[in-house]
Amino acid sequence: MCGIVGYIGQRDCTDVLMDGLEKLEYRGYDSAGIAVFEKTGIKTVKTKGKLIDMRDKLQKEGSPVGHCGIGHTRWATHGEPSDQNSHPHSNGRVTIVHNGIIENYKELKEFLTEKGYVFQSQTDSEVVACLLDYYYSERNPLRAIMETVKELQGSYALGIIFRDFPDRVYATRKESPLIVGIGENEYFIGSDIPAFLKYTKNYVLLEDDDIVCMKTDGIEFYDVHGLPEKKEISVAEWDVEQAQKCGYPHFMLKEIHEQPGIVGNTVESCCRDGVPYFDDIGLTDELIRGVKRVFVVACGTAMHAGIIGRYAIEGLARVPVTVEVASEFRYMDPIVGEGDLVIVVSQSGETADTRAGMELAQHRGAKTLAVVNVKYSAIARQADMYIHTLAGPEIAVASTKAYTAQISVMYLLAFRFAFARGTISEDRMRELTAQLLSAPGSIQRVIDRKKECQFIASKLVNADNLFFIGRTFDYALSLEGSLKLKEISYIHSEAYAAGELKHGTISLIEQGIPVITVATQANILAKTISNMEEVKARGGVIIAVCRKGTSFAEGTVDMKLEIDAPELDDMLVPLPTVCALQLIAYYTSVLRGIDPDKPRNLAKSVTTE
Ligand code: G6P
Repeated sequence: MCGIVGYIGQRDCTDVLMDGLEKLEYRGYDSAGIAVFEKTGIKTVKTKGKLIDMRDKLQKEGSPVGHCGIGHTRWATHGEPSDQNSHPHSNGRVTIVHNGIIENYKELKEFLTEKGYVFQSQTDSEVVACLLDYYYSERNPLRAIMETVKELQGSYALGIIFRDFPDRVYATRKESPLIVGIGENEYFIGSDIPAFLKYTKNYVLLEDDDIVCMKTDGIEFYDVHGLPEKKEISVAEWDVEQAQKCGYPHFMLKEIHEQPGIVGNTVESCCRDGVPYFDDIGLTDELIRGVKRVFVVACGTAMHAGIIGRYAIEGLARVPVTVEVASEFRYMDPIVGEGDLVIVVSQSGETADTRAGMELAQHRGAKTLAVVNVKYSAIARQADMYIHTLAGPEIAVASTKAYTAQISVMYLLAFRFAFARGTISEDRMRELTAQLLSAPGSIQRVIDRKKECQFIASKLVNADNLFFIGRTFDYALSLEGSLKLKEISYIHSEAYAAGELKHGTISLIEQGIPVITVATQANILAKTISNMEEVKARGGVIIAVCRKGTSFAEGTVDMKLEIDAPELDDMLVPLPTVCALQLIAYYTSVLRGIDPDKPRNLAKSVTTE
């Protein structure tokens, strides 16, 4: 939800800011803007639309020339996407960019209006610029920031410049991510590391309420009381290439292709001597044996990974697992507490609802385990235990490689839980782990046959509605396949447990409606086939995604996509199968002329409720 950047150094500031915003565009692309100190004062350029529109505007109006400034890419919350509502916001003396939500902005706006401030936008963010101005006196920016944040309720990461200080960028945060990049006599801020990875790998993580002042001749950190703080510099593990398209037309396609390596790395990193090993993070067999119930709390695709986890953990370890949508969990007064393990799954590690769900569980005495892709994120740092999925930076809004990494971890947890609780033998745990370690092969085989997915996509491209059906693991995959397809192709799609379709929704099946049937699970294949027949009898077009060699009665299936994974137990077949569903969604999006990396209305990291 919005990306912010800031720079001070010797480089051309506009270039650095625009570079950074490009890397953060996944966080929102309703509008963009920058403010840069020129010799004669601050020049602000901002526009509704994507960065490409911003680049056009810069070309037409001329790029600001300077070495110090801030920038923003927006996912609209308060006020429609428009030039006026674009950041940076300014009142003359103070210019800011903001990521987050100021919950008490109405009260603050009333107060400031009484004091004579006139607002130009409908945003909550503009009140921060005015409040900073209100508290700014005696040329003391630090005091203005300290006084302002005392009044703010909600979440914020702020990049701030003061007209009187053309050689400084200030920043602060609360509950929205903000990272400081440390270069050689140059400093950066970014909502995420890729924003400045091209220039430096050294970074400092700002904690809630920290304030940073970046100057040409040094950097200072302060706590909420304005006392100087020492900060530890960390080194990013990500490479620049990981945040670039590397010749692929879209990040999404690149990220789909990365999955064999990512699954392999993630699984290996969680294993020792050929079996899953979690003692190092505190998840010992003894703790596992004491777990009464497992909850998986997450949003979107990460929640779908939790559903695969549920089938795997319950199936193997016989522990009850409940998967909860985080935005519900946090408000439903859940019965959760001591003896429960709450697994929070998140790519970004910043999703507001997931984080709140985790905090609630902790508060009630449950143990929390984060499965998170961003090591330095709030959720990863706050959880009692943490498993790092090694997907690297995921830039495309539609999650792909993070999901396969997440389900790989879910399987490993299932194996270890089952072994620790005596429901499978050590040999079986070894065998399943070895299969999982071999999964990259079958994922690669799916990717190698992407032309078939493209062909299926060409048959979906004109559909107005479609369905995904499946049972157990195939149902979990249907949910994910359907979400992927609708989020980037804008075709209405619903996922149903195959056996449930007949309880109402089958009334929507009519001549020509595509029904993608995931049918990889041998134990319920016959049942799924019956459901396919029911759909077929009503005119539906069946696209079967099944294991290689699965046969259907003549006339049941219109198209078939076979998953070649003889080495994998049925339970593990979702790994290659989901790649086929991702590719179908990707090609459908592209064929419909949509940019799959930046689907409308969405943002990758959702730090609002
Ligand atoms: C957004 C994204 C989804 C993602 C979900 C959860 O809605 O568009 O792709 O699955 O947030 O994000 P997280 O970072 O917690 O996995």
